Amino acid sequence: MTGLRARSRFALAAPLLACTACDYRKGALDPASSEALLIHLLWWVFFWVSVFVLSGVLVALALALYRGRARGVAAGSAPEVEPDAELERRTGRAVLAASALSILILLGLLVASVLFGRELFRAPHAPLSVKIVAHQWWWEVEYPGKTSSEHVRTANEVHLPAGVPVELELRSVDVIHSLWIPNLHGKRDLIPGHTNHLVLRPQRPGRYEGRCAEFCGLQHARMELAVVIEPPEVFSHWLERQRRPAPPPGAPDARRGADVFVRGSCSLCHGVTGSEAAASNGPDLTHVASRARLAAGALPNSPLDLRAWISDPQSIKPGAQMPPTALPSAELDDLVAYLETLR
Ligand code: CUA
Repeated sequence: MTGLRARSRFALAAPLLACTACDYRKGALDPASSEALLIHLLWWVFFWVSVFVLSGVLVALALALYRGRARGVAAGSAPEVEPDAELERRTGRAVLAASALSILILLGLLVASVLFGRELFRAPHAPLSVKIVAHQWWWEVEYPGKTSSEHVRTANEVHLPAGVPVELELRSVDVIHSLWIPNLHGKRDLIPGHTNHLVLRPQRPGRYEGRCAEFCGLQHARMELAVVIEPPEVFSHWLERQRRPAPPPGAPDARRGADVFVRGSCSLCHGVTGSEAAASNGPDLTHVASRARLAAGALPNSPLDLRAWISDPQSIKPGAQMPPTALPSAELDDLVAYLETLR
């Protein structure tokens, strides 16, 4: 039975895997996981059934109008007081048949919806668990390890291995947020004081975008979670690199920058494993330079953007928790040089 289920799951994922090679335009709703594929299929079932019903109604309406005209009731003729008994019987039968068909179609859609829903939330055993904590307005991502050195803390970017079921543990520390990665699954709320779970079977490697789907304050629209699905060996390599502490900076400017980071205000909120900075109020920066974007997707991760973000975050993301950092230009350059070494 288990083998059969596993095979049926594989059959479900096969078109997805086949499509990694084909020239398929990726959109926000193109399924990249078994769950998204189920949602996608159910959507198309509803769509085509609705098209069929609407077409039927329009054809019946056109036919009724045509027949009415063909019967040619002349203007000014006496109203039809005694209806035709045979016509009434036929109309009654047609209404009854249409009602029965409507009930059957609605029942069919209900059954399809329940079956797809059951398959969608039939949680397989997930060998990988990832904790995602929502903050105003960024995502904290944790990969629990057996020892503290295996534990990984990162932000705004989650990497997942293709073909491996993963359980996302979802929490919030402030207000209600909602995680929506349309290519992978439906929405799931992150609620303060309550942990929600979402089990995924990512299939198609690629880079996808997750969004906050519940209004959570001023910067709700700038709360992006980048999702990278990659082959398991690439993922293991990534995780291994993320586990490493930051190496001590070599170049003189980066060394000066590390000093600015630790002695200045940065280390009051941010941590860098391998340095003296151990705070965890803000995103962990141990491998900040390896991430594609800054400030939960608000900026590309380039030295210039990083410099602009550090000196005046409020002009880029008004209301964000990060205060402006007033530093002499040379120290700011050193700080950016240091952060660029954190790959
Ligand atoms: Cu978080 Cu909207």
